[in-house]
Amino acid sequence: MPSPNWCALMEENGRMHIFEIVDEKIKVKGLGVFNPVITLKGIIVGDEVGLGQKILTRVEPRLPEMINGMLRRAQTISGKDAGQFITRLGLGPGDTVLEAGLGSAGSAMHIARILGNSGHHITVEPREEHAEVGLENLRRAAAFFPEFPKNTHLNGFVEELENEITKALDNDTLDAVILDMPEHAKSIKTCYPYMSKGARLACYAPTTIQLEAAWDACEEIGLTIEWAGEVIERPWSRASKGGLKPSKGDFGHTAFLLFAKK
Ligand SMILES: C[S@@+](CC[C@H](N)C(=O)[O-])C[C@H]1O[C@@H](n2cnc3c(N)ncnc32)[C@H](O)[C@@H]1O
Repeated sequence: MPSPNWCALMEENGRMHIFEIVDEKIKVKGLGVFNPVITLKGIIVGDEVGLGQKILTRVEPRLPEMINGMLRRAQTISGKDAGQFITRLGLGPGDTVLEAGLGSAGSAMHIARILGNSGHHITVEPREEHAEVGLENLRRAAAFFPEFPKNTHLNGFVEELENEITKALDNDTLDAVILDMPEHAKSIKTCYPYMSKGARLACYAPTTIQLEAAWDACEEIGLTIEWAGEVIERPWSRASKGGLKPSKGDFGHTAFLLFAKK
């Protein structure tokens, strides 16, 4: 059951606003200053509410709405690549996953959605200002997702956190590792001993230089590369004279992905 202490409002254009229902004036970017308890009195899911010039609908957000309304700071991983993590790493309820860097938790929200109450999500981030945003996005997700994994957050660089990772795992092992950072090699080496046999590791590498360095580091330590490459998305829309055709715009590059198995 989603928490009754949170609210998600959707604008007519789909833009989401997510906030805690507190009995005091709050400022929500794009909506201005208001008291949620007063504004939402009698407004249930499906109802409309007027705020300033805007008419908004109260909704029960699922992952896409949570992503739409998330706070952003660091560059985020979108569903195109996060979906690959879930499928190629074979993630599911009960898994123990280490993810670094947390950044804004763009990818972490996808991972948390799939791990269920029985999962353990160890997140790592050295930059406090990024962790603040990422952890707030996870806190919101925990309020709305019907199930949510245990989250252990570690402050710092993966390669400097061996003791903390050992403690967080408490004799458990990692089923998967997800690394989104400029340089993967040291983190790969640090995580390797904690991975169970058959566990998989994924790297998100915006450039070919980063991809090759991650590939080399995996092979040096004894991981087998299962798949590396890029996923390209091509949206379609209605043509003005009828029919459907690929939408205008280029195929934006996000990153190369690398998957390796122990
Ligand atoms: C692009 S952001 C991550 C975005 C995140 N995956 C998302 O989808 O929102 C990269 C993050 O990695 C962090 N980082 C860099 N080196 C790291 C390391 N060695 N260990 C852990 N995190 C690291 C940075 O501080 C930064 O916040």
